Amino acid sequence: MRLSKRMEKMQDKELLRLMELADDSDMISFAGGFPSPETYPLKEIRESFLEVLDSQGRDALSYSATSGYLPLRKKLAKRMNDQYNTMLTAEEVIITSGSQQALDMSGMLFIDKGDIILCETPSYLGALNIFKAYGAEFLAVPTDSEGMIPEALEERVKEYRNRIKLAYVIPDFQNPTCRCWTAKRRKEFMSIMQDYDIAILEDSAYSDIAYEEMERPPLISLDVKGQVINCGSFSKIFCPGFRVAWICAKKQMIEKYMLLKPSIDLSSSSINQRMIDVYMEKFSLEDHINEVIELYKKRRDLAIETMKTSFPQCVEFDLPKGGLFVWIRLPEGKNTRTLLERALLKKVAFVPGGSFYTTKGKENEIRLNYSNMSEERIVKGIQILGEVMKEFLG
Ligand SMILES: Cc1ncc(COP(=O)(O)O)c(C=O)c1O
Repeated sequence: MRLSKRMEKMQDKELLRLMELADDSDMISFAGGFPSPETYPLKEIRESFLEVLDSQGRDALSYSATSGYLPLRKKLAKRMNDQYNTMLTAEEVIITSGSQQALDMSGMLFIDKGDIILCETPSYLGALNIFKAYGAEFLAVPTDSEGMIPEALEERVKEYRNRIKLAYVIPDFQNPTCRCWTAKRRKEFMSIMQDYDIAILEDSAYSDIAYEEMERPPLISLDVKGQVINCGSFSKIFCPGFRVAWICAKKQMIEKYMLLKPSIDLSSSSINQRMIDVYMEKFSLEDHINEVIELYKKRRDLAIETMKTSFPQCVEFDLPKGGLFVWIRLPEGKNTRTLLERALLKKVAFVPGGSFYTTKGKENEIRLNYSNMSEERIVKGIQILGEVMKEFLG
């Protein structure tokens, strides 16, 4: 069968294999990026679903408006405005089927073959893969623990200004590194970017999973030109199974996304949007998020403590201030893909950091997810990984 040329770029079989390993109950898998199912508020969700079926069942089982269920869009606009002093209206918020769909639509909207996407390095593989399928090339901007380095950004944007169509960034607790940009770097980023005609896609999938107070204004709140498209999601703070997420942007930009949405899925799930709306009406989403944070923070602390006592001294990692991952560095020159093969024999999995780079060469890092795992398995898995590392590093 002759497949599209695009498929040649969708060859990351390693990640698929790792995700499938997550289903092996003997495997202690730190590879996923999944929220913990024990946080899903089942009783409240059941009650909300029943209310939706009783009071609006026929509408809930129909197609929704392409832009999404208006009361939910209003709530999301208000939530952003209350949290971040934005001035969004409901018309500037649309619902998508997961933020993965927002990323896909962004690729469709902005990218022609050979266009450049400016991004962090490393970055979210699910986004890089989509953009690649649309023919994008990547220009990675050196990034340190505070965010993109302004001088490096300026230099690259200046040089490639005519080819860069989109900047894709995850300023809050980035996947995979969990780094969080400082407020200063966010301002510097926006101040540089506002001189160029380049759209900015701000992925806020992890924004709400913060373990400490930090000043971190979303880029959309610093946007004076209408350049920023911000995407958020219920996946990590509520349940990924509903596939409900959102895009916020200026009306002119939202209209472009609206042109694409019907040809992709007609609309996002009506019943799921209405259920979430009723849930937000009857219960406190913010209280729920705080409970989720409390659990993940406990798991983060346990993971870090166990790493400190189990990993060889030369292995480095920072304390993540939010998100679902720890980013681990082995000494330069060590290849964590080889380490993975050895760990798999001992029934422990993780994602080698090299998978998250736009170019080959950086292979000494690891992304480790701790959110979706019992305390007992966190300790056991990290201790085993420590043993495998000690053998591997000699
Ligand atoms: C950075 C980032 N963006 C977007 C997504 C997609 O999330 P969803 O489609 O479940 O909203 C993920 C999923 O892990 C992610 O890590």
